[in-house]
Amino acid sequence: MIALKTRSELTVMRENGQTLAAILAEVCRQAVPGKSTAFLDEMAEDLLRQAGAKPAFKGYRGYPATICASLNEEVVHGIPTRTRILREGDILSVDIGLLRDGLYSDTAMTVAVGEIDEQTRHLLQVTEASLWCGIEQVTLGNRLSDISHAIGSYIEREGLHVVKEYVGHGIGRDLHEDPQIPNYGPPGNGPRLQAGMVFAIEPMVKNDPDPTMVLDDGWTVVTASGGVAAHFEHTVAITEAGIDVLTRGGEVRRSG
Ligand code: MF3
Ligand code: CO
Ligand code: CO
Repeated sequence: MIALKTRSELTVMRENGQTLAAILAEVCRQAVPGKSTAFLDEMAEDLLRQAGAKPAFKGYRGYPATICASLNEEVVHGIPTRTRILREGDILSVDIGLLRDGLYSDTAMTVAVGEIDEQTRHLLQVTEASLWCGIEQVTLGNRLSDISHAIGSYIEREGLHVVKEYVGHGIGRDLHEDPQIPNYGPPGNGPRLQAGMVFAIEPMVKNDPDPTMVLDDGWTVVTASGGVAAHFEHTVAITEAGIDVLTRGGEVRRSG
């Protein structure tokens, strides 16, 4: 069952989304050569707590950290450590979730550490654009799988591959609510979109067609080929007035 949010819940979720977007941007600004993923994690937790929020992932099914920090061939759920040091040419996916006033928010992006090659730049651009293809379909009366189809067909048209093992999700009083939102599939299926629905839409994209694998730590998802992967995620609400991208606005600007 898809839990519809009230107006006042949406107001809180909007505030939460804006707080989280700003924190993700700040963390990503610090993703520069020489920093460890644990450094970014500590910073993220400090910023969340200063904002009166709690990390949503810490303790979730035993997950040990505030952010997921997935480097290069890591797709999602990379655990931050002191020993993973960012280097020029890496890409880093940062996923962060927040809980405040009983409501969750979830957002992610992949950033370049210094200069990256052309093919990897394309991967990042396509993944982010695919998220916006999905978001465009979040309109009253559309069906759920219209989102999935828009994302997946765009990625395939660009010659890249959707990660099929992990999906987007409803979000609100729980981090993961119904429905599941795959990043591929035919359009025109599933429930019609209604005001009060809130979704975390999150395409994950890689260069190879093979299934991903999970490392022995039980969390880190990696590509089978060792090729790089990217992940972008927004928490998005449907209101009577239309679509509202709650976690929008975290611009990343870096001086060097
Ligand atoms: N943020 C992930 C998602 O987008 C879930 C992470 S759960 C964790 O749904 F435990 F790995 F953090
Ligand atoms: Co997430
Ligand atoms: Co999510």
